[in-house]
Amino acid sequence: MTRVFSGVKPTGHLTLGNYLGAMRRWTEVDQHRSDAVFCIVDLHALTVDHDPARVRRLSRQGATLLLASGLDPELCTVFLQSHVDEHTRLSYLLECVATDGEMRRMIQYKEKAVRERERGGSVRLSLLTYPVLMAADILAYGADEVPVGDDQAQHVELARDLAVRFNQRYGHTFVVPKVTSPRVAARVMNLQDPTSKMGKSDDSGPGIVYLLDEPDVVRKKVMRAVTDSGQDVVYDREQRPGVTNLLDVLAACTDGNPESLAGVYRSYGALKKDTAEAVVEVLRPVQERHRELCADPAYVEGVLRDGAEKARAMARPTVDTAYRAIGLLPPVPEPALSPGR
Ligand code: AMP
Ligand code: TRP
Repeated sequence: MTRVFSGVKPTGHLTLGNYLGAMRRWTEVDQHRSDAVFCIVDLHALTVDHDPARVRRLSRQGATLLLASGLDPELCTVFLQSHVDEHTRLSYLLECVATDGEMRRMIQYKEKAVRERERGGSVRLSLLTYPVLMAADILAYGADEVPVGDDQAQHVELARDLAVRFNQRYGHTFVVPKVTSPRVAARVMNLQDPTSKMGKSDDSGPGIVYLLDEPDVVRKKVMRAVTDSGQDVVYDREQRPGVTNLLDVLAACTDGNPESLAGVYRSYGALKKDTAEAVVEVLRPVQERHRELCADPAYVEGVLRDGAEKARAMARPTVDTAYRAIGLLPPVPEPALSPGR
């Protein structure tokens, strides 16, 4: 059976971009047709300036929202990355296969490093090595497919390169994974700045729809979305990024085609109104289920505990094989006690 692995960082409240770009396919498609593993990648949240209490809170909330969005622990595995040591164990080995040049070429590293420096902070070494930990997340599970939004394609490509290189040098150990992206809305843009991604760690609240935004807040944000000069509704990412983003969101929420939807609307106002309602409807069941789950934190904890146990059992053999293949001796087992002593 196909193995699928994906994750989300607890660095901010989950957004419509996370949902349409990644989570919705996990629940609607991946968990039903594959052996799927989903992770709150909490170690990745430590790569930028962080508040420990906030990371704890967002990890719990992220896990609750994954379940609220429809992940079913009977069908897939859901857990916290830091509960399974195999991720960091493997990450070190992959650091011995990756090069520093490769890390410095990662677009997200370059962008985030600039941002951290602009804020007057220093850049954590873990921000540079982050894609190696992500490769370890994927390779430890022998994932065939990694369903992510567009922004993660380069990182998955790196995971492929490292898998191939390790296999060539040390013998076949890892499955070479491939990225899968949604047909539409692989990159949902910020409603206030449709040339940049709707990112959950960004500061501009009005351009970001959060999964837990009340319906009226969602309506307000969508109705105030920045649109382009001109009047007609045209699907053109370069010339009309604002309208195109709304068409993508509407298409993703209604299972439609953004280019044909463009022909249906004569005004930006009508497009915004329908987009707002479509988003409210998509979020409604997630929010309802989230409320129920918040009333039962022990259930969520139980899912995470069982998930971590399952995940450990899946990852351990592959990571042990990698340790042997790269040249590390296995620990010597305790001698068996002779009978009668
Ligand atoms: P992150 O928020 O960076 O942890 O991302 C978790 C998942 O959501 C990854 O698969 C991302 O590619 C995806 N994602 C995040 N933001 C967006 C966005 N604005 N549009 C589409 N996918 C996104
Ligand atoms: N880097 C991903 C992001 O920012 C999160 C992530 C970490 C991930 N490990 C992963 C995604 C493994 C897919 C598979 O969105």
